[in-house]
Amino acid sequence: MKHLNSVGLFLLSCTCLQLSAAAPARAGISREAEALVNWKVSLASADESLGSWSMANSTSLCSWTHISCDSAGHITELSIGDTSLNGTLDRLDFSAFPRLKSLVLSNNSLYGTLPAGIGNLTSLVHLDISDNPYLRGAIPHSIGQLKHLSGLILSDLGLDGTLPEEIGNLTTLEELRLNSVLLTGSIPPTIGMLVKLCMLTMQQNSLTGNIPLQIGNMTELYALYFSDNYLEGQLPGTISNLINLQSLSVSKNQLTGHIVTKLWNSSSLDMVDVSYNKFSGLFPPSICMGNVLRIVTAGYNGFTGIHHQTFQNCTTLVYVEFTANNIGADIRDIFGKHLGQLRVIAFSQNHLRGTLLTDEGEVFLCNYTSLDLIDLSDNVLDGGLSKCFWDIPMLRFMDLSNNSFNGVVPLSRTFPYALEYLRLANNHFKGPFPLALKKCKNLTTLDLGGNSFSGTIPSWISKDLPGLRFFRLSSNMFDGIIPRQILQFHKLQLLDLSKNKLTGAIPDDFVNFTGMAYEQNDDSGYYHFEGNIQIVWKNVDYVYTTKIAGMVGIDLSGNVLSQEIPGGLATLLGLRYLNLSGNHLSGCIPEDIGNLVLLESLDLSRNQLSGEIPPSFTGLKSMSALNLSSNRLYGMIPMGSQLQTLVDPSIYINNLGLCGFPLEDCVNSSPSKQNERSQAEDREALWLYCFVAAGFIFGFWLYWGMLSFYSETGRCAFYQYVDNMQEKFTKKIHSCISWFKAKALNEISSSSSKT
Ligand SMILES: *[C@@H]1O[C@H](CO)[C@@H](O)[C@H](O)[C@H]1NC(C)=O
Ligand SMILES: *[C@@H]1O[C@H](CO)[C@@H](O)[C@H](O)[C@H]1NC(C)=O
Ligand SMILES: *[C@@H]1O[C@H](CO)[C@@H](O)[C@H](O)[C@H]1NC(C)=O
Ligand SMILES: *[C@@H]1O[C@H](CO)[C@@H](O)[C@H](O)[C@H]1NC(C)=O
Ligand SMILES: *[C@@H]1O[C@H](CO)[C@@H](O)[C@H](O)[C@H]1NC(C)=O
Ligand SMILES: *[C@@H]1O[C@H](CO)[C@@H](O)[C@H](O)[C@H]1NC(C)=O
Ligand SMILES: *[C@@H]1O[C@H](CO)[C@@H](O)[C@H](O)[C@H]1NC(C)=O
Ligand SMILES: *[C@@H]1O[C@H](CO)[C@@H](O)[C@H](O)[C@H]1NC(C)=O
Ligand SMILES: *[C@@H]1O[C@H](CO)[C@@H](O)[C@H](O)[C@H]1NC(C)=O
Ligand SMILES: *[C@@H]1O[C@H](CO)[C@@H](O)[C@H](O)[C@H]1NC(C)=O
Ligand SMILES: *[C@@H]1O[C@H](CO)[C@@H](O)[C@H](O)[C@H]1NC(C)=O
Ligand SMILES: *[C@@H]1O[C@H](CO)[C@@H](O)[C@H](O)[C@H]1NC(C)=O
Repeated sequence: MKHLNSVGLFLLSCTCLQLSAAAPARAGISREAEALVNWKVSLASADESLGSWSMANSTSLCSWTHISCDSAGHITELSIGDTSLNGTLDRLDFSAFPRLKSLVLSNNSLYGTLPAGIGNLTSLVHLDISDNPYLRGAIPHSIGQLKHLSGLILSDLGLDGTLPEEIGNLTTLEELRLNSVLLTGSIPPTIGMLVKLCMLTMQQNSLTGNIPLQIGNMTELYALYFSDNYLEGQLPGTISNLINLQSLSVSKNQLTGHIVTKLWNSSSLDMVDVSYNKFSGLFPPSICMGNVLRIVTAGYNGFTGIHHQTFQNCTTLVYVEFTANNIGADIRDIFGKHLGQLRVIAFSQNHLRGTLLTDEGEVFLCNYTSLDLIDLSDNVLDGGLSKCFWDIPMLRFMDLSNNSFNGVVPLSRTFPYALEYLRLANNHFKGPFPLALKKCKNLTTLDLGGNSFSGTIPSWISKDLPGLRFFRLSSNMFDGIIPRQILQFHKLQLLDLSKNKLTGAIPDDFVNFTGMAYEQNDDSGYYHFEGNIQIVWKNVDYVYTTKIAGMVGIDLSGNVLSQEIPGGLATLLGLRYLNLSGNHLSGCIPEDIGNLVLLESLDLSRNQLSGEIPPSFTGLKSMSALNLSSNRLYGMIPMGSQLQTLVDPSIYINNLGLCGFPLEDCVNSSPSKQNERSQAEDREALWLYCFVAAGFIFGFWLYWGMLSFYSETGRCAFYQYVDNMQEKFTKKIHSCISWFKAKALNEISSSSSKT
């Protein structure tokens, strides 16, 4: 049949070209040359390597670039990948190449559709059109005519059609790559005819429906990728026939149900990714049967348990991830004793219970000397930590937060220690700041928040933890002062000491505190695993991932800190949040605070801050959460386009006398308005009062100015003095100023109306 076809084809081409029957072979060759040149002419552009393609050169077709010929001079290979082709395939006469075995068009800018004529390439063994993102439409049904095809590579295209069922006609196919093609519809059951298929990639499409049972027919398959689609239903039990399977990924679909016990029948299984689906029930045993399994990713499902035999003898296991399931087992029942090579254990957000300690008091996990990452956060684990935890030599990432661990963090035995990320937050740890950390020179994230740690913050931290970027001690019982060495952290970009019992002043010399002095750019890929830290961001408790490492902030709220806000804070130009609320801070708000143009959240409430809101406030162009309530501030709220968006008056309440938007207008709200009604009676008394007040200020300035005229603190101390001792008096002065303004306005308007 095929033979007849090609004869027909041949005859047709002969008549068309009106060539003599004496040179049939040459005619065929010249037709190949003509087809290529005609197509080349139709292209908008191509790189110069196609320069030799010209009819003038048609006699030496086989010396053209990108072409290989057979001994008869016919083209067998056409490799024009990476040649910047811009154009369509519409003008390419595929029927001119009956001997073509390999066609590579990958990584170009072809647009239009895949023509049905491609089915005329009946000798084709290898077809690669991948990475042409502007190609649209469907895969033509005629693809089924390419009966000798062994490799079909159509990945990274912009198609949007379904996979034609004729794909099942390609029974010699060994490699089928259809990832990122934007396929829609379901996978045709005819795919089960591809019994020689070794590799099937269909990830990143929009496939719907079930995974067909017939995939069980593809017994040669070693790699099967269905991730990132909308597939639903169960994982078909016929997968157990795939005895050569090495890699299986069905992640990010909507697959449901239990994974049947006997599912994994391959002794070559190396990687299984079933994450981000809706699987439930017990995770099956036998997955490790071949004893070559290295990677299991099953996070974000509804698994309720793991069979106790699943990982029992899995000595090759490197990576186990079950984040966000409903696993309620005792952690010691999940893992066997002989997991020699285990590097990653991630079981965050489950219901794991029990202790990490064995009956002999050792942490069983300590036997896993290759561990790089342990994430057991958000479970119900309890008990203490053992010393040997610090002996795992490669451990870089450990998150035990949100459990019920308790006791004192033990001292380490060995050093140096590789740990980069440590979260022990929200447990019941107690005792002093863990001295063991002194050996963790590579630490970048430390979160001890939400425990019962006590004592002082040691002064060695910045010297011994020079790379620290995220530091959180919030909600503990630390007391004493904030050591001034804390400002020697060169890289720190998040400092949260909130809700402790810290006293004294906030240290002030930010010269070396450079991590907050510049905008931090998102710096992804910091850990190979996503790290979290909890911050209070715009008044909301927020779990923030260090993968988006652009966060810069300071939270010292809820302590007993006193004295002034250090002016140097205004040099930390990278700051995005600053929370000093609920302390005993006094003095003025630093004059230059408006320099912090990236500041989005500022909370200075519940202190004893006095004076006026500095005019530079109008420079806080990113501000969207502000709280200055419950202080002793007075005067006009500065006007600025960003400040005008903060319409909630409660952010200014409980101060001495603030006015202006969103509170009442300064002139109208001042007592002078009421005074106007009884102006006649009160005028003389008020004049007198105001002059006395002015005289007092003048005298006071003269006295105080000798000591501190040029000093910021002196100026603030003056306001503070006035505030503290003369609250009412200050209000009177304020009303005087308003009264003078109102009077002047009155006089101007009355004089202008007279003329
Ligand atoms: C013909 O092909 C040869 C070899 O590829 C090339 O060097 C030559 O420039 C071509 N001639 C023309 C006219 O394109
Ligand atoms: C794609 O082709 C361009 C030339 O057109 C080349 O520079 C680039 O490296 C190719 N990309 C890949 C992934 O091969
Ligand atoms: C291809 O050529 C067309 C017409 O010259 C042009 O508009 C288009 O931008 C080109 N596409 C690419 C990807 O270069
Ligand atoms: C080439 O393919 C087209 C579309 O499938 C078809 O109509 C045509 O008959 C084919 N030509 C030959 C010579 O097979
Ligand atoms: C090709 O596939 C279609 C659809 O699956 C089928 O009807 C047809 O019989 C197949 N042809 C051959 C020659 O196998
Ligand atoms: C499975 O493969 C056999 C050949 O090995 C074939 O006869 C059968 O039709 C295939 N089943 C399906 C559903 O494709
Ligand atoms: C597992 O594979 C073996 C051959 O390796 C086969 O005999 C057995 O039937 C398979 N089990 C299942 C459940 O398919
Ligand atoms: C684990 O290995 C031991 C000893 O080789 C064997 O007795 C036991 O049955 C194995 N367990 C599993 C679940 O394969
Ligand atoms: C650690 O490994 C040793 C030898 O491999 C074994 O004897 C011991 O029981 C293991 N300890 C724990 C806690 O699993
Ligand atoms: C821990 O618990 C807190 C409070 O319940 C919650 O907000 C947070 O999302 C949990 N997870 C992590 C990783 O902190
Ligand atoms: C600390 O990090 C550096 C640089 O990444 C690395 O060379 C060094 O081995 C690490 N230290 C430890 C104890 O792992
Ligand atoms: C800044 O660091 C340098 C070098 O470590 C040190 O000499 C200097 O005293 C530090 N300056 C301040 C103000 O802490």
